[in-house]
Amino acid sequence: MKPTALITGASSGIGYEFSHLFAKAGYNLILVARSEDKLNQLKEELGEHPVTIIPHDLAEPDAAGVLYDKIKDLGMRVEVLVNNAGFGLNGQFDELPLLDQQKMLQVNVNALTELTHYFLQDIKDSPLYDIPKGVLNVASTAAFTPGPKMAVYYASKAYVLSFSEALVEELKGTGITVSTLCPGATDTNFFKTAKAEHTKLVKSTMTPEAVAKAGFLGFVKGKRIVIPGSANVSMAIATKVFPRSLTTKVAHYIDS
Ligand SMILES: NC(=O)c1ccc[n+]([C@@H]2O[C@H](COP(=O)([O-])OP(=O)(O)OC[C@H]3O[C@@H](n4cnc5c(N)ncnc54)[C@H](OP(=O)(O)O)[C@@H]3O)[C@@H](O)[C@H]2O)c1
Repeated sequence: MKPTALITGASSGIGYEFSHLFAKAGYNLILVARSEDKLNQLKEELGEHPVTIIPHDLAEPDAAGVLYDKIKDLGMRVEVLVNNAGFGLNGQFDELPLLDQQKMLQVNVNALTELTHYFLQDIKDSPLYDIPKGVLNVASTAAFTPGPKMAVYYASKAYVLSFSEALVEELKGTGITVSTLCPGATDTNFFKTAKAEHTKLVKSTMTPEAVAKAGFLGFVKGKRIVIPGSANVSMAIATKVFPRSLTTKVAHYIDS
């Protein structure tokens, strides 16, 4: 039997590319996002490959629990959980609608945490395959510094990184891989959704293909943190070297 990868946010961008990569590597797929039409199109592209699509809104309260139950009702088990769904919002914290920011936290933080909790036991109980099992969480280089004008988004990604690194330690010796992908600016729908198309963030982007490939290979190699692109690696190092007050100012400049 082949292991199954559940990929959230599979309808576009990095998640769409992950879907192709995990399919090519032999994983059966469960693909989740809100856009049923895009998920159907992706399923068609993947031809005969075993793909189950589940249109689902992860911003709803207990979205993770409902999704877990749906997958159990289908008699399926998950060996790789790719927590990729997420979005940002650009603007002054007190001027952005609270409801939108709550939804962002629901998707970026709560759904990611709850899905990991629900599926980790299944992953633990599943046999070892010749391809890895575990969790691949998508954070961002935003995880490394506070980000004025995208304050909640940056904080949400700092949570994802911290949470994932703690799990790496807890799960040592279990055969379960936990990797965190920290992309920098990537050419996807992210900026349109975040209303950040006017910012300096969009000046230099990587392709979602390159970012997903780095994340996939990092996961397969059991890497703890994957930062695609040398400029993003330099940026991550800079956040360790320079004072946080300075990196916060730089992030403010870039996000404006
Ligand atoms: N692009 C960047 O510059 C960048 C940089 C660092 C990190 N990231 C992270 O990379 C991940 C993927 O983003 P992307 O760049 O590929 O952007 P994207 O093209 O906008 O993709 C976001 C995905 O998340 C899904 N999603 C959003 N809200 C959802 C909800 N409420 N319920 C279920 N699914 C939802 C979207 O599907 P539907 O709209 O169909 O629901 C879509 O498939 C995110 O976690 C993002 O924070 C992106």
